[in-house]
Amino acid sequence: MKINSKASLLLASGVLASVLAAPETGNAAGSAPHIERQQWSFSGITGTYDKAQLQRGFQVYQNVCSACHGLERLSWRNLVEEGGSEFPEEAVKALAAEWPNQITDGPNDEGEMFERPALLSDPIRSPTRTRRPRVPRRTGPIPPICR
Ligand code: HEC
Repeated sequence: MKINSKASLLLASGVLASVLAAPETGNAAGSAPHIERQQWSFSGITGTYDKAQLQRGFQVYQNVCSACHGLERLSWRNLVEEGGSEFPEEAVKALAAEWPNQITDGPNDEGEMFERPALLSDPIRSPTRTRRPRVPRRTGPIPPICR
């Protein structure tokens, strides 16, 4: 019994020592590039978003990324919200209404599901409807920004 508990104590301290030593080994092997700390307008608790930046970001999303990705964690109303991109409400309503991937709603009085244009309260769905991005067969490789 005594020997066993000594042995487990030894084993435990060995494990502890190797765990404590692990970060050092990691540092010695690491030649990771230094990343400069950035100053973002939204840093800290008093930070705010840069409206023009958010508007450009949505423009990139709309023109490039939306070919494959949805923005389902955002609703159309988020594009109108104060402190965000603050696009004009009428323009966002119009864009949501003409977005290619309509919203499945229902059931209606006949018990059928139906498609309707998106409202401000709806999520921004990918035009391809799938949750995971879909790469059309002829599009080629995954874009570098997504790797
Ligand atoms: C041609 C289709 C296509 C376009 C356009 C595209 N993506 Fe992707 N994206 C993909 C695919 C496919 C994946 C999944 C890659 C994988 O799983 O290896 C992906 C993955 C990602 C991921 C990682 C998601 C995760 O869950 O890990 C991010 C972030 C991303 N894309 C951002 C963007 C942004 C930002 C744009 C626009 C500038 C964009 N993508 C445009 C197809 C696309």
